[in-house]
Amino acid sequence: MTFSDTNNSLAGVFTELASGAADPSAESKSQIRNEYSLRVASLNDAVMLESIEREAFNGVALGTRIRRDLVRHNGLYLTAIRDWRTDERALGPRFAIATKAEKERNSFIAKLKRNLDRYVLDRVNPPALPEEYIAGFAGLWFMLDEAHLVIMGTREADRRKGIGEQLLISAIEQSVENDSRVVTLEVRASNEAAIELYRKYCFQEVGLRRRYYSDNGENAVIMTTPSIQSEDYQSQFTGLVEQHAERWGWVSRPGFVAPEG
Ligand SMILES: CC(C)(COP(=O)(O)OP(=O)(O)OC[C@H]1O[C@@H](n2cnc3c(N)ncnc32)[C@H](O)[C@@H]1OP(=O)(O)O)[C@@H](O)C(=O)NCCC(=O)NCCS
Repeated sequence: MTFSDTNNSLAGVFTELASGAADPSAESKSQIRNEYSLRVASLNDAVMLESIEREAFNGVALGTRIRRDLVRHNGLYLTAIRDWRTDERALGPRFAIATKAEKERNSFIAKLKRNLDRYVLDRVNPPALPEEYIAGFAGLWFMLDEAHLVIMGTREADRRKGIGEQLLISAIEQSVENDSRVVTLEVRASNEAAIELYRKYCFQEVGLRRRYYSDNGENAVIMTTPSIQSEDYQSQFTGLVEQHAERWGWVSRPGFVAPEG
């Protein structure tokens, strides 16, 4: 199956792209810089990344490897960042790393714990926060000719702003740069939002890992791109990246040259 094959379920997306079906009356934002940018993560970001992981996966530990991955020779983590807002800084480290649920829980015990955390985190042992606020991140492992997207998540407050898609774009760009042939991943079978996003970038469902997730015995769907080095993929991918920039503005990121003017 190729991208131009009319039996290809992705053909609709690409026909739209080819015909430039984006709303012609919409003003192009592609010359405007998005508030968020992407950079490679470092160990200094770990405390924020772990808090996003807790939020994005409802506290279900993934056997977390974030700290290990950040120093792994074949790992690459990308983060979506912006400047801290004054009010966020003023609320202190405890606020910065609490998840939305943790902030909103209102039982007596939860409040007590919050106050204790506030005391410990803000006064006794404040964690070193990164220079910038982190809205989301994506982690890759490069193995032989494959790039494996091991984790991706955005903060609840920052969803549906194109950040997850931008992280995926950058993960694919970095995989191309790294000479990977394909990008693969596993995703919960019920995770419609993520599956929708991956399909948009031509990931196809190629298998199932039964009862992969230990918290509820859910299956994982294995998804893989076609060759990301192929001309076919590159031209479709470029179209999607341009569409993203038209909608959200251009995003500063590793390996990307800002538009002139
Ligand atoms: C999946 C996730 C990373 C998407 O992040 P996001 O920043 O909200 O995504 P974007 O705004 O960039 O959306 C990009 C595309 O994703 C899909 N999508 C995102 N949220 C969706 C939702 N709630 N329902 C359906 N599709 C959704 C859509 O295709 C969307 O494109 P569109 O805007 O043209 O409709 C985010 O929902 C998340 O962190 N979820 C929890 C963690 C997770 O599931 N990670 C992936 C595990 S493999």
